[in-house]
Amino acid sequence: MQSSIRKQLLKLFSDHEGEFLSGQLISEKLGCSRTAVWKHIEELRKDGFELEAVQRKGYRIISKPDRISGNEIQLGLNTKFFGREIYYEESVDSTQKIAHRLAYEGAVEGTIVVSEEQRMGRGRLGRAWFSPIYTGIWVSIILKPEIAPQQAPQLTLLAAVSVVRGIQKATGIRCDIKWPNDILINGKKVVGILTELVAESDRINAVIVGIGMNVNQEREHFPEDLQAIATSLAIEGGHKWNRAAILQAVLKEMEDLYFDYLKNGFQVVKLLWESYAVSIGKQIKARTLTNSITGKALGITDEGVLLLEDEKGTVHRIYSADIEI
Ligand code: BTN
Repeated sequence: MQSSIRKQLLKLFSDHEGEFLSGQLISEKLGCSRTAVWKHIEELRKDGFELEAVQRKGYRIISKPDRISGNEIQLGLNTKFFGREIYYEESVDSTQKIAHRLAYEGAVEGTIVVSEEQRMGRGRLGRAWFSPIYTGIWVSIILKPEIAPQQAPQLTLLAAVSVVRGIQKATGIRCDIKWPNDILINGKKVVGILTELVAESDRINAVIVGIGMNVNQEREHFPEDLQAIATSLAIEGGHKWNRAAILQAVLKEMEDLYFDYLKNGFQVVKLLWESYAVSIGKQIKARTLTNSITGKALGITDEGVLLLEDEKGTVHRIYSADIEI
């Protein structure tokens, strides 16, 4: 985790974007000596920040490194809780695994785990998730909602809506959602979401929302079997993107929607989700672990469960499946 002085320094720069901040002002705001300020500035430089220092004016940030560590995420983040505690490592097995451990150890709500690479990224239905270094956003968010376990699918849909809205705000690219939470552009998957519960009997201790976003991969970076079905924001947008800015936008959308959901219920999320969904009203095939059902996707219930009507008119409630449109 980042030192708190470091966090405050980045917050200060972020509140005065593009402006010079004098060493005197920084030391006053942070309650540390001018020498300590200088040391923190040097640390930022080591982390790849480009800082200009001008006599009698002070310091200002010229550019951020192409990393997605605590520093880059905090600079420009305008949330109250989400992403305020960041656990970052250059390379991990899976951010989900670390988030589970942190949740168990009592991490605060909104803590995020981020890594540049996952060696064993986990996907839905026991699949692997391709997470190469420096190209994507591999993040797990710890939530502690006071809801019943059967409401947890609602959070999956909430995460999908937040991701779509965050991407649109940060890049202008419009994505679709395929039930429950695959994010697609032109039919190809750009983001996957994995929601895992930490629960005892009928009580939720935490929900870990894992989000894998393909951001700066080129087509040839994907293994051959994925090239036909996966895409990235760089492929679709025609240039690379700042990953930290996208994550900041997603965290902000998710925080706003999450607190609205806790206060007012699922209705707003449901309406938003339906407005981005591509599968509703269409003939689809739902492949569950045990069988597959073809029919018309009628919509989702207030718990976030998919309703699928087969050709005999029987309506099936689908909790977990792969959907083919
Ligand atoms: C899917 O199969 O569509 C879900 C993919 C979820 C991937 C993310 S990346 C961050 C987090 N850590 C993991 O190991 N998985 C999730």
